[in-house]
Amino acid sequence: MTVNGEAVDYRLDSQTPLLWALRDASNLTGTKYGCDSRDCGACTVIVDGRAVTSCSVPLASLEGARVTTIEGLSPDGSHPVQQAWLAEQVTMCGYCEPGFIMAIAAMLEAGASSGDDAAGALTNICRCGAYPRIRSAITRASATMAAARQQASQDERMPKQQFSPASAVESQKPSQ
Ligand code: FES
Ligand code: FES
Repeated sequence: MTVNGEAVDYRLDSQTPLLWALRDASNLTGTKYGCDSRDCGACTVIVDGRAVTSCSVPLASLEGARVTTIEGLSPDGSHPVQQAWLAEQVTMCGYCEPGFIMAIAAMLEAGASSGDDAAGALTNICRCGAYPRIRSAITRASATMAAARQQASQDERMPKQQFSPASAVESQKPSQ
């Protein structure tokens, strides 16, 4: 499997949950332990494009999988969900944060039709009750990602400008 783009071969019992391989063997402690029963979502990572509770997935089922953790979501915290989280000042204790961000990123990247759809489908738990701000962050990130998709499709449709050395030279002549 790969974790955040790097090939990893864990020498652990094949029934070890992914959560503990990430935290204890890879030192990727952004992925949190909450309930161990697929209820809280604190341990959510992205596996092959889908949000997955890493406490419930044994290593044996992950051969060839692409795993992304909160540490690998963006190199500099620039993912639209991370930016929206900051803009809406969601963080309270922050424990639920990585799991929420990964679950929301997976849903929006998979094309959830609106922020409301993504918010409605989330099952993660925030013990601090930051839900109204989480909902605002989802709406903001969804709008940002939709605008970026629209821009990308417009760019694709635009005819490529031809570079002409003659016209480049022409434009550099001093005006009379
Ligand atoms: S620790 Fe995995 S869902 Fe709660
Ligand atoms: S911010 Fe504390 S659990 Fe969500």
